[in-house]
Amino acid sequence: MNVEQLLETAAAMVAPGKGILAIDESTGTIAKRLASVNVENTEDNRRAYREMLLTTPDIGEYISGAILYDETIRQNASNGQKLVDIMREAGVIPGIKVDTGAHPMAGFEGELITEGLDGLRARLKEYAELGARFAKWRAVITITDDLPSQANIEANCHALARYAALCQEAGIVPIVEPEVLMTGDHDIDTAYDISELAHKTLFKHLFEQDVILEGCILKPSMVIAGDKCPEQSGVEDVAEATVNCLLNSVPASLAGIVFLSGGQSEIQATQNLNEMNTLGPLPWPLSFSFGRALQASALKVWGSDINKNTSAAQQELAHRARMNSLATQGEYNANQESS
Ligand code: 13P
Repeated sequence: MNVEQLLETAAAMVAPGKGILAIDESTGTIAKRLASVNVENTEDNRRAYREMLLTTPDIGEYISGAILYDETIRQNASNGQKLVDIMREAGVIPGIKVDTGAHPMAGFEGELITEGLDGLRARLKEYAELGARFAKWRAVITITDDLPSQANIEANCHALARYAALCQEAGIVPIVEPEVLMTGDHDIDTAYDISELAHKTLFKHLFEQDVILEGCILKPSMVIAGDKCPEQSGVEDVAEATVNCLLNSVPASLAGIVFLSGGQSEIQATQNLNEMNTLGPLPWPLSFSFGRALQASALKVWGSDINKNTSAAQQELAHRARMNSLATQGEYNANQESS
């Protein structure tokens, strides 16, 4: 294991003012995104959409890396160049989703366990050869009146830690993502308690599996009330709860924290991230690894005419990337949206 290279990659992923673009939707998930703008889910359209995003001019100024899906890391752009080579030239580190999805957990109705450990060592070796320098594994934790169970949190965190150890062995920085779902009627205090429990359990397993925290990135959800909770969380509530939760449960030696957006609007995700970064100093960089909150506007513009709107859609992505870059430094305000 080349520890120096791991630490270098991890530091580059959370370099000041930069965050990660998550475009690793599985074929089923991207089908829903493309359907929302009436674009057919063909391999060529998926490639064209992701090529549009990855060839955004100066994308490397605000985006340190992008998480790809298996199909994308193997694809060539329309000019024949490998998409990963285009990324590298733009200063964007290639990453790869390596879990094989969240599936119903036997014996625990309503809960999901993420699969993909079988054969992972060989897959990581191949992904490293294809150019991946970091990876992502997403565990899903569901909140209801009775859930999550301790068994579900333990099993998911154990798998996350086994994945992280295998990544580091292959010279790949693991992003560990224990997503506490924002769907449900739970309040922000419940989201706090479950997030804290999930992080504490995760770091116990990472410690047991000898994972080097300086070469590892956490991708958590923000601590926020469920989407059906009568009392929705304000920006200050989310920022304070999230930062306190992280301070209580995440070791200072971790390389960095990059949030998922989880169904928040683009502006809400940016505002919440910005507010957190006004609460420092904090032991780790707090940045973004948004999927929907970076892509929503770009997808809409691109989808309205996929042959004509490449440049207009790229401007949307560049704008969101810049707004989130400001948010990583606590320097965002709503007036900049129109700049
Ligand atoms: P969202 O930001 O759309 O939640 O997606 C991020 C991601 O990678 C989820 O695994």
